[in-house]
Amino acid sequence: MNIADDISFDDFDERNSPRDKTTGFDLIIERALSRREFMGGVISFGLGQFLLSTRSASAKNSHLNFTALEDTKMNNSFAFDAVVANGLDTVTVPDGFVASPVVKWGDSLFSGVSNFDETNPLTAEMQRQSFGDNNDGMSLFTHEGRLLLVVNNEYTNNRVFFHNRESGKAETEDDLQKNMAAHGVSICEIDFIDGAWRLISDSPFNRRITAMTEMEIAGPAAGHDLLKTRDDPAGLSVLGTFNNCGNGVTPWGTYLSCEENFNGYFSSSDPDFDVTPEFARYGIGVKGWGYDWNKIEERFDISLEPNEANRFGYVVEIDPKDPARAIKKRTALGRFKHENAEVVVAENGHVVVYMGDDERGEFLYKYVSDGTYVEGVSTSQLLNKGVLYVAKFYDDLRGAWLPLTPETTGMPLAEICIHTRLAASKVGATTMDRPEWVAVHPDRAECCCALTNNKQRGVKPNKGGDEQTVGGPNPRAKNVYGQILKWQPDKGDHTASGFQWSLFALAGNPQKHSDEKAGSRKINSGNMFNAPDGLSFDSKGRLWIQTDGNYTDSGDFEGMGNNQMLVGDTQTGEIRRFLVGPRECEVTGICWSPDKATLFVGIQHPGEKGGSHYPLMGEHLPRSAVVAVRREDGQPFG
Ligand code: FEO
Ligand code: CA
Ligand code: CA
Ligand code: CA
Repeated sequence: MNIADDISFDDFDERNSPRDKTTGFDLIIERALSRREFMGGVISFGLGQFLLSTRSASAKNSHLNFTALEDTKMNNSFAFDAVVANGLDTVTVPDGFVASPVVKWGDSLFSGVSNFDETNPLTAEMQRQSFGDNNDGMSLFTHEGRLLLVVNNEYTNNRVFFHNRESGKAETEDDLQKNMAAHGVSICEIDFIDGAWRLISDSPFNRRITAMTEMEIAGPAAGHDLLKTRDDPAGLSVLGTFNNCGNGVTPWGTYLSCEENFNGYFSSSDPDFDVTPEFARYGIGVKGWGYDWNKIEERFDISLEPNEANRFGYVVEIDPKDPARAIKKRTALGRFKHENAEVVVAENGHVVVYMGDDERGEFLYKYVSDGTYVEGVSTSQLLNKGVLYVAKFYDDLRGAWLPLTPETTGMPLAEICIHTRLAASKVGATTMDRPEWVAVHPDRAECCCALTNNKQRGVKPNKGGDEQTVGGPNPRAKNVYGQILKWQPDKGDHTASGFQWSLFALAGNPQKHSDEKAGSRKINSGNMFNAPDGLSFDSKGRLWIQTDGNYTDSGDFEGMGNNQMLVGDTQTGEIRRFLVGPRECEVTGICWSPDKATLFVGIQHPGEKGGSHYPLMGEHLPRSAVVAVRREDGQPFG
C-alpha cells in the first residue's frame, strides 16, 4: 500500500482491517427493520422536525435570497450574502470580506532558514524550523502582548510534499526525517502590521513539535507494561506526536492537540506478524500507509517494537507560552482516533472534555475531572484524575453517559485508558457515524457534534463487532452526507449523566434526491454541503461548520462544489454558506483574533489529487495554509 494511492485513511483501514462478516440475509433483514423504524417509528418519537419534509419548488429555488439569520444573537452587523457553491481554485468569501494567507507549509519561522522554494525543496533541518504541512485544528493565545498561533500539522500528502514526485515515496533518509518534521504542531508568533497579518520571525516562542519531540506520558496509563519499550523501559516518555487533527484549549491557557489516524504510521517487517485483536480494533496491522518511517526508526515496526503503537492515539497538552514546560500525553482522556477536545468548565467547577472518535461505528466520549478548576490553584491533576464516559443514545431523544470504570468494564483503569474502544464496547455504547468535532455553545448548555458520514451504517458492524444499527442519531443507512447532532445536558449541567438530543441538520442534496438523501428541511440548493467535520461556536453563539467531503461536484454531490465553511443558527436551523475553499482542499481549523475582526481558517491539502495551485495561480505547487478572513471595513464580526 502506498500513500500515493487515492484512498482515504478510512478506506485504507477498511481494506486492511476487514470487519466481521454478516450474511447477506442478515443484512437484508436488519436493513428492512431499520427502514421501517426510520420512516415510521421514529417520527412517532417526535423526530419529524428534522426528517425530510415534502418541499415546494419555491423553497428549492429561494436559496440565494437569504435574509439575516433570525436568532437575535445574529444581529444585522453580520448580515452577508451567501456564497454560491463553486469549483474555483481560490478562497471565496462574501462581498465585503477579504481572505489572505497568513502562514503556509514551509514558511520559515527563523531568519537563518531560507523560505520555501519550489525549485529547491526544504531539507529535514529546514523543515524542523519551518511551518509544518497540512494544517488542521488551531488556537490563538495572547501572552505578554504577543499573539501565539498554535496549529496542528496533521499529515502529509507525499506526492505534493516531495514536490510532485510521481511515486509519492521518500527516497532518502533526509526525506524521511523531513517527513517526520512536517508532522506535529507549529507554534508561531503573528502580528497585524500595516493592514496584514505577518509571521514574526525569530520570536522566542516560535517552535516546532514533531514526530521526534520528547514528551511525557501522564495519567493512569503512565508506566503501564503496555507502554514500555526498549527505548523507554519505564513507559513514561515518548518521542513525538503525529496525525494531529482537531484541538482544544484549557481554561488555564494550554493547547490540546489530538492524535487521530496514528495507526497508518506503523507496519510490520514480518508479514506473518500476529496482529492482536486490540491492534485490529485500532486498525494497526502489517501494512502501513506508506510513510516508511520504520526505515529509520525501528519503533514504527510493530514486529520489532510491539508497544510503540500503544503510545499514540492520545490528547497531547502543550503550553505555548512556556517552551521549557514538559509536553504531556493525557492518557486519562482515552486512546482512540481523537478528533478534537472541546473543554468546558461545568457550573460546579469540574472540567469536562468532549471528544469524538472518528471512525465508522466508533463512539462519542466525555471526560469529567475529579477535581474542580479554581483560578490560581494547581491544575496539574485535572486532566490526570477523572472519569471517562461514553455516549448511549435512545430513540426517545434521551441519552446517557456511561462511565468507563473497572466496575463497568471489568478492565483495570490503565487498560481502559489504552484500549478505550474495547472498554466502550463492553458497556454497550452507541456506534456513531464518525464523530468529528464537538463544539459547546458559549452561553448555554448546548453541544454539537459533526457526524461526518458512514457508508457502513446499516451494512456491517464496527471493527469490534458492535452492530451499526440504523436509527437514533444515525438515521440513514449507507450515510453519504453526514449530520450534525445537538444535545443539552440535563439541568444545564455538563457533568450530568443524562441528556436530551436532536439533530440540528441532516446534510443532503435536495436537487438530486427527494427521499431521506435530500437532507433535513433547512437544507436547500443554496446551502447544501456534505461531510461536516470542523465545528466551532463563536462568541455570539453562531455555529461555524467546515467540511471535509466529496468535492467532485457530481452524482450525489452535484451542486456542492469545493469544500466549504457555513454558519448556522442552532435555534432556528438556518445555515448559510460563508466560504468556499480552493480545489481539492478540506476546510479545517478555526480561531479568532482577540478583537474578533479576523477569522483564521485552515485550508488543508489543496490539490491533493493534482488539481490546485493554491495559493498561487499557474503551475505552482499547492500549499496548505492558514488564511485570515476580515471585513473590508475592518469591523469585528465574531
Ligand atoms: Fe482529521 Fe477526523 O479528521
Ligand atoms: Ca477532521
Ligand atoms: Ca473528516
Ligand atoms: Ca484532514
